[in-house]
Amino acid sequence: MDPISAQISNIGIVPVIKLNHPQRDAAPLARALCAGGVPVAEVTFRAAGAAEAIRQMAAEFPQMLVGAGTVLTTAQAEEAIHAGAKFIVTPGLDPELVTFCQSRDVPIFPGCTTPTDYHTALKLGLEVLKFFPAEQSGGLAKIKAMAAPFPMFQIMPTGGISLQNLAAYSAAPMVCACGGSYMVAEPLIENGRWEEITALCRQSVEIVGAARAAR
Ligand code: 3PG
Repeated sequence: MDPISAQISNIGIVPVIKLNHPQRDAAPLARALCAGGVPVAEVTFRAAGAAEAIRQMAAEFPQMLVGAGTVLTTAQAEEAIHAGAKFIVTPGLDPELVTFCQSRDVPIFPGCTTPTDYHTALKLGLEVLKFFPAEQSGGLAKIKAMAAPFPMFQIMPTGGISLQNLAAYSAAPMVCACGGSYMVAEPLIENGRWEEITALCRQSVEIVGAARAAR
């Protein structure tokens, strides 16, 4: 596993962030995540200021692993990497985007949910896949079923992860980290509820730690 993926795996949780006001919120949010023991952020290109948010977080919080999510085009990947993104997450599997990121030596975690996706991912030399949208695509049962023919992958389930199902996903040996937006929900960010974000992160870290210890 590459060092960035190993770092993400070590943390075990990836907050999926949509920032509408990067100038105002990027720094306090990064501080809140780090204080909660989750020094990683997937900043999604669903909001216009994504690259700006990545730039700020990466510059002001060098201890943090800042990546880009919902990357749909090579141009966005280029913009994200230029802004300082250390990893790229895509909702689906686009071989062109994968080879582009590989050529830049930036880990990419593409959304994969079918045997055909996994097959293609194998051909592309990927080791870590996002399983998206996790709950809607069959959840943990499907992740486990897919690991039978494809035991070589580490999986990052995202989509429908909550404090309620985090333990079950994290206990599965092929799950290296869970992505989710519940600890950075829009009302929390918009209203500057940073302490709640920190508390949710802490709670999540505890859940992941306990689930892994019981593997
Ligand atoms: C993503 O972009 O990966 C998902 O929207 C995150 O899913 P969630 O909001 O259900 O956590």
